[in-house]
Amino acid sequence: MNRIEIMEGDITRCKTDAIVNAAHTSLLGGGGVDGAIHRAAGPSLLEECRTLNGCATGDAKITRGYQLPARHVIHTVGPVWRDGAHGEHAALASCYRRCFDLAVQHGLRSIAFPAISAGAYRFPLDAACRIAVEETAHFLARHPHFERVILVAFNAEALAAFQSALQQISHPPPP
Ligand code: APR
Repeated sequence: MNRIEIMEGDITRCKTDAIVNAAHTSLLGGGGVDGAIHRAAGPSLLEECRTLNGCATGDAKITRGYQLPARHVIHTVGPVWRDGAHGEHAALASCYRRCFDLAVQHGLRSIAFPAISAGAYRFPLDAACRIAVEETAHFLARHPHFERVILVAFNAEALAAFQSALQQISHPPPP
């Protein structure tokens, strides 16, 4: 658990091997964290994204980080929340898994995530943060040499949601 770090701030400042972008299926940019990452990385990121032919919901693709402190950006497309009965939880879990797959394939040791789908895509924050923490813990348990996963909250509410999710899996309530 000490390889999971939760922080409040701007993911574009993270000096991890990769930062994760909560992208659109087109991979051609947007608002929220997507806009912030493209602004900080510079126009070469969009040029590389144009060569990728988009990305399906629940999948991920990797690019270089250009002017970012992070060497890579892993772009993933979270589900748009409808009512929770349209595979949203499984699709969000798949985002985290695919990002970790790419990190391992590229020999990366540290990665930072925003709360994927919890902004414009309206996934309920607590559930989104719980999935993030569960998938991270599951991955780290199977990859003892992976150094660090940072879960980046953009505000105090997201920080509290990540912290409470981490607390719950570290100290589950008695049966
Ligand atoms: N650093 C960290 N987290 C951030 C940042 C930032 N610079 N900017 C926004 N966030 C947070 C939001 O507060 C939210 O908790 O990232 C989380 C995800 O929000 P969105 O960026 O809106 O992502 P998402 O809900 O997955 O929607 C994706 O929005 O920008 C478009 O192109 C994108 O269509 C896609 C959709």
